[in-house]
Amino acid sequence: MLATRQPLLRRFWYPVLPASSLEEGPQPFTLLGQRLVIWRQDDGQYAALEDRCAHRSAALSKGWVDKGAIVCPYHGWAYDLKGVCLRIPQRPDSGPSKQPVVKSFACSERYGYVWVALDDPLAPIPDWAEEGDPAYRRIDQFYEPWNCASFRLMENSFDNAHIHFVHRNTFGDINDPNPPQPTIERDELSFVARSDVPVFNTEEQKRNLRDDSPVTIRHIAATWYLPFLRRLHIRYPSGLEHIIITAATPVADDACQVVQFCFRNDTEADAPAANIIAFDRRVTAEDKEVLEATDHDVPMDMNSGIEKHMPSDQPGLLMRRMLLELLARHGETEQTRHYHHAA
Ligand code: FES
Ligand code: CO
Repeated sequence: MLATRQPLLRRFWYPVLPASSLEEGPQPFTLLGQRLVIWRQDDGQYAALEDRCAHRSAALSKGWVDKGAIVCPYHGWAYDLKGVCLRIPQRPDSGPSKQPVVKSFACSERYGYVWVALDDPLAPIPDWAEEGDPAYRRIDQFYEPWNCASFRLMENSFDNAHIHFVHRNTFGDINDPNPPQPTIERDELSFVARSDVPVFNTEEQKRNLRDDSPVTIRHIAATWYLPFLRRLHIRYPSGLEHIIITAATPVADDACQVVQFCFRNDTEADAPAANIIAFDRRVTAEDKEVLEATDHDVPMDMNSGIEKHMPSDQPGLLMRRMLLELLARHGETEQTRHYHHAA
């Protein structure tokens, strides 16, 4: 599947930028091949427009915000958040354009990030109750580009078999390669996979988890939000909760922006955020190394024979099935260079 060629994928919310980055002015971001300029208005509203001035195509992201409008750096045309041209400095009497002249997109802030949907969203941004709950803290972990398909990272999150190989140097046990099968509960646009996975408790993790046992159990409830968002809820035997939110925001067919933050029900005195990030950093780097060496055109058709499967691939196979079903419901077929789908 080539993500930029599936219009359906435009109908979801994706986190694109840390909201704080807009304090420095308008920022560019490319979402599913669509170049955007994102900015924050004086009244606190967030805006996303096509990053192309209607006059001579200059990048609006190189401009600035003035009186609630984004100003093109080339000749100063100014646009509101709907793409209406409010002012043309060379024609002071012209008044605002009757229609928007630059395309605008839905844009909103949640969890400290700016989210964008290119077309009418099929589902809202998920509500996670930990946000704003004093029993939990939110830790921003990563915001970085990866050279792999968004889908590869999503599938990886639900693939318990990779833990014991990819993460053999951090917490996996290469001598115990066959993971427990999760039980999966599916909804229309999401599923939850539950499993209990025994893992090594490294010296570093003993401190982060405040648990001295050599082996611990991760009680996992992993939620996939179609297409490229997941919530990994890990509960340890001590009662500690580590809830990782990861988005693989699709930039291009072969590139995504990884946005990751976590919630914890402990305190900075229990485990400093820097140590928690350091452990997740090492684990994530192990995934990145492998995933950037995969084919970005993931075949969704499980019977194509292009990729073979094993029993532990079940969550990833369900992801393919759900994506294909949704595409079909919207009259779309999978776009790929591997094979041709009859419409
Ligand atoms: Fe933007 Fe001329 S290109 S004002
Ligand atoms: Co991993």
